[in-house]
Amino acid sequence: MWTERRRRRAQLLHLMAAAAVVVVGSALASAQEAALRVGFYRATCPIAEDVVLAEMRLILMEDDTLAPSLLRMHYHDCFVQGCDGSIMLQSRKGKTERDALPNRSMRGYDAIERIKARLETVCPLTVSCADIIAMAARDAVYLSHGPWYDVETGRRDGNITAAEYVENDLPPPDSNIIDVKTFFSVKSLNSKDIAVLFGCHSIGTSHCGPIQKRLYNFTGNMDQDPSLDPAYATELRKLCPPPRPGDNDGVPVGGKTKVPLDPGSNYTFDLSYYRHVLATGGLFQSDGSLLHDPVTRGYVEKVANASSPDEYYADFAAAMLKMGRTDVLVGDLGEIRPTCGIFVD
Ligand code: HEM
Repeated sequence: MWTERRRRRAQLLHLMAAAAVVVVGSALASAQEAALRVGFYRATCPIAEDVVLAEMRLILMEDDTLAPSLLRMHYHDCFVQGCDGSIMLQSRKGKTERDALPNRSMRGYDAIERIKARLETVCPLTVSCADIIAMAARDAVYLSHGPWYDVETGRRDGNITAAEYVENDLPPPDSNIIDVKTFFSVKSLNSKDIAVLFGCHSIGTSHCGPIQKRLYNFTGNMDQDPSLDPAYATELRKLCPPPRPGDNDGVPVGGKTKVPLDPGSNYTFDLSYYRHVLATGGLFQSDGSLLHDPVTRGYVEKVANASSPDEYYADFAAAMLKMGRTDVLVGDLGEIRPTCGIFVD
């Protein structure tokens, strides 16, 4: 499913990005970063961040499983064509980012639309969908007992989307550390950023689909990934049976069952994800890949053994800010729409 073609495309992207960075990247990046700032709406919509937080409290009171999904949405929005809200766009022909396989398990589109509708009543045509997603991600972490951090705003929304961008830009869950570093370096994120951002898997769940290969057919010989802790693998095999015909019908990928990303504390944003990865190899191969590089492994070990979350939380705020600057539309670029999920066809 996660094809070699995508890996080759990622390598090509990496080379192209390296060249582009040398020529225009730094000038463009600094112009973009200058336009994003904490408190962008202070003059135009001073209550914007309060409105988002208040709505998020209500949304999570109704369904707290939306917190991880909204955090994940910011990552998927930023990695695919930049943090431009394009993940919200809809197609009658199944052609948008939303329609791509990795986003079929995404939830929370209605929640973003609900926040947008609320903001339109107090500050019409002012706050972008991309910024709402960034603020909702921050609030999702905070309301999951994680840190508060100042989020930069000032992004504008894009109206270009294509399902294939998603599979080209997001690393698949069976990525090794070379793949992960390639995909993340295209977005100017380094090994430390990778180790820090993977801590997002401290909250939420996965369908069985992304781990079935790891549990049942790792090398094509009906075997199990040897780097996965045997006791953990046994638990996972009980929850996730081998793939059956029809598992991929409908929205869920690999049946309806969901397994925690960080067992025991999957709705609390904390450091236990790092202890889990160190002890078991993590849920996805990509989580376990952190152990196969000296920088990312060193970081996992440091956080897993930390006596206080403070340093990790500061690193997390910095990495989220960095990810949130990915290829943003600012100034006269892009648009502010009355609703986020408009149809493109
Ligand atoms: C190599 C990088 C990554 C891979 C391969 C990956 C893969 C996945 C997969 C397969 C799922 C389960 C989806 C499902 O079946 O429902 C998931 C869930 C999740 N991911 Fe990632 N992810 C990566 C990086 C990140 C990053 C950087 C963030 C945050 C900035 C993030 C946040 C989340 C969250 C919060 C969930 C839980 C979603 C929920 O409970 O609905 N992921 N990820």
